[in-house]
Amino acid sequence: MPDIDAYSAVLRLPHDARRKFLARKLARFATAQVVAPGIPGMSHWTAGQYMAIFRCRHANGTEEAVRCPRGAIPGEPLSRSQALARHLALHQPPLPYFVQHEFLEQAVYAGQEWQPAFVMEWIEGVQLDRWVADRVAEGEGGALREMADRWAEMLALLQQTWVAHGDLHHENVLVTPLGELKLVDYDSVWIPELGNGPSPVVGLRGYAHPAHLRGEVVRCQHRFLDTFAGLVVYVSLRTLAEDPTLHGRFSRENLLLRDSDLAEAEKSELFAQLRSHPDAELAALACELTRLCRALGECNVSLRSILRLARRRGSFPQLTLPAIPDPAPRWTPNPPVAVSAPPDLFGTVEVGR
Ligand SMILES: Nc1ncnc2c1ncn2[C@@H]1O[C@H](COP(=O)(O)OP(=O)(O)O)[C@@H](O)[C@H]1O
Ligand SMILES: [Mg+2]
Repeated sequence: MPDIDAYSAVLRLPHDARRKFLARKLARFATAQVVAPGIPGMSHWTAGQYMAIFRCRHANGTEEAVRCPRGAIPGEPLSRSQALARHLALHQPPLPYFVQHEFLEQAVYAGQEWQPAFVMEWIEGVQLDRWVADRVAEGEGGALREMADRWAEMLALLQQTWVAHGDLHHENVLVTPLGELKLVDYDSVWIPELGNGPSPVVGLRGYAHPAHLRGEVVRCQHRFLDTFAGLVVYVSLRTLAEDPTLHGRFSRENLLLRDSDLAEAEKSELFAQLRSHPDAELAALACELTRLCRALGECNVSLRSILRLARRRGSFPQLTLPAIPDPAPRWTPNPPVAVSAPPDLFGTVEVGR
């Protein structure tokens, strides 16, 4: 497989020479300028675990990302990206979290062979970890709390529309200057058409379920594939909004929780602190996450249902909730429910369990 320099050498050739190394479908890139991804002074590419990403600016000012593989692309990229595009097209208005993307089997001639590549809309934004670090540095706890809500909304909408990103972590989530969440890296996205076989990735340390990381249980694809990582991010955002000093103590290549915390949640100093947090809802979430870390793999419920339950427990920590008939029988003049339901955190978006 070509390395970043090999792709770079092709994409930065003078326009006329570059044309020969690009598939006809990429002709528009022949005259594009390859520019630095975002941070001034940075090189003209950025890279993840598998891909080298080039930011290409066309003559009319529009920008696209060319994602070139540095190794085998996990999963079946062509069928997955086509299935995702079909699934997303069914949803109106379009989900705001995904951008236009396309997989081309023969895109760039590098390393003496035609190589595949993804072409996608360029997203102006910063990675979630950097955004969080900036908010902590600026003392903007309120913004972190709002982001936690936005994060929960995103997960609710994805799960309601039967889409899972499959590899949620701080590098695959960008925050735009307007504070919108955008997802990148669709290599392990799941939609029902793809079935419930093994996921092409187990996820990044610090976000993956410990049983999958240890290889004890195969990670299978399903509608609630994002719940575990989604809860890790939600708890991290809520905690940092309350206690920004924890960022300096615990955050490195993560938002807050580390893989060692998830692997041994009962013994983790950070988890112990969270389980007895004065914010009862956060404490309830930390207890639930501790329980989930002990389970044999990821849970099969929506993030929203976990948050809703924690909110009830958090609001009424001294009570064991009675079984609330659902729906309440109409014939009962005085339903035997003493506890009024807490306000709904998410408005009207309804997600199954
Ligand atoms: N469409 C895009 N717009 C802007 N930045 C992007 C885009 N796609 C990827 N990136 C940046 O490049 C990084 C690596 O890309 P990614 O597709 O996640 O590669 P990998 O599959 O190797 O993890 C991302 O974390 C993100 O910062
Ligand atoms: Mg990635």
